Amino acid sequence: MNNGENKPAPGHWLLAKLGKKVLRPGGLALTQRLLRAASPSTNDRIVEFGPGVGTTAKLLLAAQPRSYTGIDPHPEGSAAVQQIIANLDSARLVAADAQDTGLEAGSADLVVGEAMLTMQGEKAKRAIMAEAFRLLAPGGRYAIHELGLRPDDVPAQAEEEIRRALSRTINVNARPLTAAHWKSLLEDAGFTVTYQDTNPMALLEPGRIFADEGVVGALRFFTNVARNPRARARLLAMRKVFRAHQEHLCAFAFVAVKPHEG
Ligand SMILES: C[S@@+](CC[C@H](N)C(=O)[O-])C[C@H]1O[C@@H](n2cnc3c(N)ncnc32)[C@H](O)[C@@H]1O
Repeated sequence: MNNGENKPAPGHWLLAKLGKKVLRPGGLALTQRLLRAASPSTNDRIVEFGPGVGTTAKLLLAAQPRSYTGIDPHPEGSAAVQQIIANLDSARLVAADAQDTGLEAGSADLVVGEAMLTMQGEKAKRAIMAEAFRLLAPGGRYAIHELGLRPDDVPAQAEEEIRRALSRTINVNARPLTAAHWKSLLEDAGFTVTYQDTNPMALLEPGRIFADEGVVGALRFFTNVARNPRARARLLAMRKVFRAHQEHLCAFAFVAVKPHEG
């Protein structure tokens, strides 16, 4: 699997190709807590940025929302998402960038995005948050789950080292932020943060893989990894970086609300 220029695939698509369905740093447990706080309901028009292979789409659709729109410019996960939303007239997947979805302003009640802001630079992070704000009706919620750095005063040198190591191994320009930084970006976009949570970053730890994928899914994943020595070497390199920076890496989740005017 490559990007057409012999460049290794981004880490999340490598994981997905090996059968991993949960591609966010805080695992399914943090997603479940985040969704409890965001409380998707039958009244909601939901937009999800970067649905990947549709794991959270399934959870959101279980709430039988008024509508579900997945927004993803990359085709790798689209067959899996299309399969999940097949036969649902109120659900669709749009090939677009979350910075510029083309959807109508005020047309959503809940916007969800996991592990998709981290891979953007500061300008794109702000543009995506601004788009979530534009899409939401007043009172609407924006729920995010992203890679974090801790503590808030993490030494600048460690931050830079982590960014470089992550970008090198995951092959995505990963830029995790401290809780204070994530929160300030949300507030700068006009949101009021109403919920904040955290979980360890344990994406590639065996215990987390079993918890996220279930026994059958985890065994299928480990079997696929064992059969593919190149993929195995990459995953081990990724896990080595995660472990080396364990002290400073974590996952954060936030729910932020678009205030009613006045
Ligand atoms: C690490 S995966 C996470 C997938 C899924 N949200 C999960 O947590 O399991 C990142 C996802 O974000 C998507 N993505 C990346 N940049 C994006 C953008 N600018 N707009 C929308 N989606 C984007 C990718 O295609 C991919 O589906």
